[in-house]
Amino acid sequence: MSDEPDGWDADRYDDQCAFVSEYGERVTDLLDLAPGDRVLDLGCGTGQLARRLTETGVDVTGVDSSRSMIDAARERHGERDGLRFVHGDARDLPALFEDAKPFDAVFSNAALHWVPDDDHDAVLGGVTTLLTSGGQFVAELGGRGNVARIVDGVRTELDTRGYDCESPWYFPSVGEYAPRLEAHGLEVRRAHLFDRPTELDGGADGLREWLAVFGDELLASVPDAEVSSVVDAVDDRLRDDRFHDGVWIADYRRLRFRSVKVA
Ligand code: BEZ
Repeated sequence: MSDEPDGWDADRYDDQCAFVSEYGERVTDLLDLAPGDRVLDLGCGTGQLARRLTETGVDVTGVDSSRSMIDAARERHGERDGLRFVHGDARDLPALFEDAKPFDAVFSNAALHWVPDDDHDAVLGGVTTLLTSGGQFVAELGGRGNVARIVDGVRTELDTRGYDCESPWYFPSVGEYAPRLEAHGLEVRRAHLFDRPTELDGGADGLREWLAVFGDELLASVPDAEVSSVVDAVDDRLRDDRFHDGVWIADYRRLRFRSVKVA
């Protein structure tokens, strides 16, 4: 578990979860941008993708609700003309960017599933407000069924010990999310849900590392002194199914879409 006040350990995230931004590059490929365009990276984490996008000549602002992530992004990439990082909540976009010029694109990778279901309308309303007419909203998030085996493994273990297990994530289907986008004036040009089995970094420790970076809320009901024995037990439970040839494979499923703001 992270010792950071907001639960995020930026160094561990970059060391153990480099695959997040590596896969994210395939999402940025869906953006249709010209040099000088203004892009907002929603949930920018430590800013790897934001910085890489600037190499195409666009101007990028990264926003993240974790202060530790924004501090790390500033430290790793610096801020300059064309790249800046803002600490703030995805639900408050219009207030955060009150004085900013509209954006040509909003982009988000592996972040929106952290926003509770009920709050997505606030996020999508904000995205529409910030976009120019014809502006793009391109994103990938965990889709329906994402990491279900891992969540089930944790839930079963906590059940046997008499603890609750609440998944903190929202993993929608295409049929559920496309109407939400359209209700906010975002015309869906492309959307698909697909399996993306994902090799976890860390070899035999891959699942433990994944739980250390992402599992705080999933394990929230477990007393601190018992967390490591729970993690050991979950590791045992899932090993036959998800650990092969020295690598843990997480059952990721992605919802990826490209939408455009219509008048
Ligand atoms: C994901 O990117 O799908 C994900 C990451 C951490 C926790 C849950 C899901």
